[in-house]
Amino acid sequence: MKEIIISGGKSLSGRIEPSGSKNAALPIIFATIAAPGISYISNVSDIGDTAVAVKILECFGAKVKRVGNITEINTENLEYVLPSRELTRKIRASSYLIGACLARFGKFHLSEFGGCSFCNRPIDMHLYAAEKLGAEYNRGEISAKKLVGAKIDFEKQSVGATINSLIMATAAEGETVLFGVAKEPHVRAFVEFLVSAGADITENEDSFIVKKSNLHGGSVKVIPDMIEAGTYLLLGPMTEGSVTVTGAAALELESFLEPLSLSGVSVSYDGEDITLSGTPKRPISIKTAPHPGYPTDLQPQIAPLMAKYFGGRIEECVWQNRFSYLDSLMCFGVMSERNTERALIRPSIIHSSTAAAPDLRGGAALAICALAARGESKIKNADMILRGYSDFESKLKSLGANIKLYDNSANEESTACLNNPNKTKEV
Ligand code: EPZ
Repeated sequence: MKEIIISGGKSLSGRIEPSGSKNAALPIIFATIAAPGISYISNVSDIGDTAVAVKILECFGAKVKRVGNITEINTENLEYVLPSRELTRKIRASSYLIGACLARFGKFHLSEFGGCSFCNRPIDMHLYAAEKLGAEYNRGEISAKKLVGAKIDFEKQSVGATINSLIMATAAEGETVLFGVAKEPHVRAFVEFLVSAGADITENEDSFIVKKSNLHGGSVKVIPDMIEAGTYLLLGPMTEGSVTVTGAAALELESFLEPLSLSGVSVSYDGEDITLSGTPKRPISIKTAPHPGYPTDLQPQIAPLMAKYFGGRIEECVWQNRFSYLDSLMCFGVMSERNTERALIRPSIIHSSTAAAPDLRGGAALAICALAARGESKIKNADMILRGYSDFESKLKSLGANIKLYDNSANEESTACLNNPNKTKEV
């Protein structure tokens, strides 16, 4: 496992160009299974999760190569196999194999889908959609002799179920209408890839209409990662510096920036640049929601900023109980109270510490604390962070951070928090 050592307390300033969106690239990579031919995907971020996705595709016989900034995936000659459970359990996006394999091979043996384990992550809506399209589930195998178009109404917005349904619908006879769909920027970027691969998809306000089509290789440029951009932007107010990210229009960060602006943080736009500087002057309040609401994947990273200044309130409306990271933040002095839907972050004195990254975004929140705290901090289990942030060390160095990434596999310790093992208070 890798670990990160940070000598914090420096004011960080500079300009970051976000890498390609993890949550856009992953479904595109898996969907190439359903699009026989060569796909050209540019701007795929070099992170742990995309590397695992490529390895899973190679299990089916896909030929993948990187030429400059373009990932070429040849899925002309694939064979249905059971990909290694060791691989599928590493990333949540392996659940896109349900749609991709049903569309290409008419079957899939359900596997153990991994990813961040901050709470229970069901797949009932993915299976509901597959069944509505004519698939049957029997003893761990989901299969369909023929997928047939249907009207599917989702009771809540799910990124994963929307993406799997879109893939299956391209192979379903006739027309499929999906209501109550997720409209995150990465879902729309995924639709752009499917259309480039020959899909017939019409987008309405809260629905997609999909007609059967024979997919072939497609080409797309992966959009910039809004979550990565938001994570770096927070370092401006957190360290009393000034951080700029490029690509403002594509990032769609308005709902993230609004509560920061209301708290007194300076949010400025200059063409395609967004800059955060200054510090909060009052408590910050956020409520996560599907897009265009405040993104749940930027919820853990704002908690340190609340703690360093006037505190704040978090209402988590996407995942139940996405607060376990607060136990790790407590190692850095962040005081909080919580139940399954809400957390109250107390004004706290953030200090250096050693803690293990509990998951991807929780790990990023630990790094934010470490960068703001004077003295040396260590983040163990840093592979969690590298699953979703490319060039993490060099991007932070470019802002002036004193950070070093080590591979410490030979010298593991199991301690999650060395100087404060207490849990945050459950209310
Ligand atoms: C995607 O997960 C992202 N992962 C998550 O990002 C993100 O937090 C989430 O969308 C919400 O934006 C990837 O794109 C790989 P959902 P996904 O289905 O698709 C419930 C990160 O840090 N639900 O939109 O798994 C579910 O419990 C990761 O990058 C069901 O009830 O999320 C949740 O409450 C973490 N049944 C809500 O829907 C289902 O079958 C939204 O989940 C599916 C979901």
